Amino acid sequence: MSLSPSRRLLEACLFVGASRGAAALAATRGGRSLLVLGGSGFVGREVCRNAVERGYRVTSLSRRGVNPEPASALLAQVQWLAGDATDAATVKKLASSADAAVHAIGLLFDAESGLANLNVIVSGSRSVPTSTSTYDRITRQTSFNLIGALKSKMRLPGSARTPVCFVSAAEAGWPEVAYGERVEGFAPAWLKAYLAAKRSVEAELRSASGSIRPVVYRPSLIWNWQKFDVLPAIPIFNVACALGVPFVDKTVRVETLGKAIVAGLEDESVEGVQRYLQMEQLATRL
Ligand SMILES: NC(=O)c1ccc[n+]([C@@H]2O[C@H](COP(=O)([O-])OP(=O)(O)OC[C@H]3O[C@@H](n4cnc5c(N)ncnc54)[C@H](OP(=O)(O)O)[C@@H]3O)[C@@H](O)[C@H]2O)c1
Repeated sequence: MSLSPSRRLLEACLFVGASRGAAALAATRGGRSLLVLGGSGFVGREVCRNAVERGYRVTSLSRRGVNPEPASALLAQVQWLAGDATDAATVKKLASSADAAVHAIGLLFDAESGLANLNVIVSGSRSVPTSTSTYDRITRQTSFNLIGALKSKMRLPGSARTPVCFVSAAEAGWPEVAYGERVEGFAPAWLKAYLAAKRSVEAELRSASGSIRPVVYRPSLIWNWQKFDVLPAIPIFNVACALGVPFVDKTVRVETLGKAIVAGLEDESVEGVQRYLQMEQLATRL
């Protein structure tokens, strides 16, 4: 059945209107796509939740690739992909269509720490490392894959740099605070290796800041009321910080961090290291 000229005109107007609406949405946050490496993790899922709420189209990459909370209406809107972020080609393909990215992959005890079996307890998402899951591969290599992929993307002159949020750790800043280096001298080998990997990523992000906008989050312990393994340590950290111990930062709630990361994606003036006070301030914006 052919359409009358007036009907065709009406549909053309509706199409243009819808396109303008989509463009307007994209001009705010609606059309922006966000890639979250480790989006199913304890931190990553909070980022995904907040990003969906803010109108991002969110894609998560993790080895298992499943929605960690199937009952969540917000997380149901995330595209959950299974893949290994140590594979540069996998990350490059996903990064090519991302307007923003968050790196939330990590592990506390790597394959060489001698403590890898404890990850099933300390990982908020029960992520289990393999025999090749070293800090170098899981923290450094996956991050370098992301940074390299985003750096190589074409950018129009004068256009905004792609925001990239990296979840580092408060202790990565020990060299910058009083007694920090001395404390690190007493740290176990696994913690020194963990921090070396975090610092190598932070340095790579800084060096790439001509083409990407790096935002580095340095939380100490991250928690919520369901994270029973860390709850006993929370008051100890918080009291030490309140007393002014320079190498201990106040702990950060995972809800606060998730909000702070998305707020950091949205504000072009946010760049570089964010400690707990900045995270708390950023989180109030959402
Ligand atoms: N939790 C804390 O108290 C704390 C404190 C300071 C800093 N951090 C940092 O925060 C970040 C997030 O930690 P988290 O507590 O959210 O950890 P988590 O719950 O263990 O989450 C790790 C995420 O990474 C994914 N992953 C691991 N290896 C991967 C790979 N090769 N390729 C793709 N995805 C992979 C995991 O999914 P699969 O297992 O399915 O792959 C999971 O989604 C880490 O960098 C950590 O160092 C955490």
